[in-house]
Amino acid sequence: MKTRRWLLLFLPLLALLLLPPVRTITAQVAPQFGEPLPGLSDIDLTLFAFGKEKFTATQTPATGLGPVFNDRSCVACHSNPVPGGSGASLDNRVTRFARQVQGQPFDPLLHLGGPNLQKFSVGGELPGCSLPPEVVPAEANLTGLRQPPQLFGLGLIQGIPDTEILVRADPTDENDDGIAGRPNISNGVIGRFGWKAAVPTILDFTGLALVNELGVTNYLFPHEMSPQGKPIPVGCDVTADPEDGDASRLSGLLFFTTFVGPPPRGPITDAVLRGETVFAQTGCALCHTPSMKTGPNPVEALNEKDVPLYSDLLTHYMGGALDDHIIEGAAGGGRWRTAPLWGLRVRHFFLHDARTTDLVTAIRQHGGEASQVRNRFFNLPAIQRADLVAFLRSL
Ligand code: HEC
Ligand code: HEC
Repeated sequence: MKTRRWLLLFLPLLALLLLPPVRTITAQVAPQFGEPLPGLSDIDLTLFAFGKEKFTATQTPATGLGPVFNDRSCVACHSNPVPGGSGASLDNRVTRFARQVQGQPFDPLLHLGGPNLQKFSVGGELPGCSLPPEVVPAEANLTGLRQPPQLFGLGLIQGIPDTEILVRADPTDENDDGIAGRPNISNGVIGRFGWKAAVPTILDFTGLALVNELGVTNYLFPHEMSPQGKPIPVGCDVTADPEDGDASRLSGLLFFTTFVGPPPRGPITDAVLRGETVFAQTGCALCHTPSMKTGPNPVEALNEKDVPLYSDLLTHYMGGALDDHIIEGAAGGGRWRTAPLWGLRVRHFFLHDARTTDLVTAIRQHGGEASQVRNRFFNLPAIQRADLVAFLRSL
């Protein structure tokens, strides 16, 4: 009896001595998609959480939705794989329309509700409001689709100084490499957000998205869009402008989109490392600049940080297959901002109109300034092409 008790006491100790030692976990937990920038202050983390609530909140006519709109929350279109991501469905695409007649100026049809279509209306939701959703007007002879990009790391992109962008511009292809990147400059301001780099700041884009996509007027954009260019019918706009009267949505969304962290890299295998070399040697990096750096910034998490975005933030002429003839600022129809490739591995659809789910097809669509590089890619041995795709899938 006594011996057994003794054994009971010492068995656990014996087990500890005989079993292999439990490994202590020292590796840091890798950041996940949609987490805040590493190193934010407690105050900024609170602002980020406040903003995330605004980003996911559903709007109603009483909170300012409509009179025409495309969806009820930011996250409805920016959800893949988490809030702040890209579109999860082709239904998240936005339609632009315009009219262009030979010899006449490009017309975004503002008087008919352009440049964006709002495909829903609060008619039917508000008793006493009769209002059809917008349609592409018969006068439009151009339409274009745009998919929602990821918003991860936008604060870092914003922190890149203009000079870093301008130094890579080569509008007349002085160095004769076939690549002629141009900044999209309007009224002296360099744009960097949106598929055509037409919008200069996150704040501008946030204000625009509030009013264009949700119909919520705000301090930057205090006027409702007129549905199809017509006056708003009585009973269809029940909230005084600006509907974001305390600016809590505009500012919250600004904090969320500025402080959301960059997309984390996937596993780095040997194929990925080889593919990275192929990416550079083939010339993809001539436009998809692997990394830029933020300038001095009062927010430490954004101060002099590397930004591995894989874009030069310039626009390039990409050839007829990608030309929808719609002009934004200084960027004509076939010119697009070099799409940042970070976060590619969780994306479902590629290119501005989400025309493909296949990376090799996306590369095949590259024309114009990218023709030589595209041809070089398709002339590579199959193994090198596979390595390059493995690299893209790690981003
Ligand atoms: C109906 C879908 C839809 C909704 C809702 C929506 N977006 Fe977007 N978002 C888009 C599309 C499409 C684009 C690309 C537009 C373009 O470049 O022409 C975009 C682009 C952006 C960009 C620019 C990203 C970049 O890398 O250039 C920001 C910032 C943004 N949206 C923020 C928001 C915010 C904030 C909200 C909520 C107020 C919102 N979006 C709601 C579809 C949507
Ligand atoms: C001349 C500049 C240029 C070169 C060279 C170039 N690209 Fe692109 N790339 C772009 C632009 C601009 C877009 C956006 C086009 C659009 O959406 O219509 C883009 C889009 C992409 C996309 C889709 C990204 C998305 O967000 O949907 C992928 C993938 C891509 N490029 C990979 C490559 C690879 C791989 C190479 C080399 C074989 C390459 N690119 C060479 C300018 C370039």
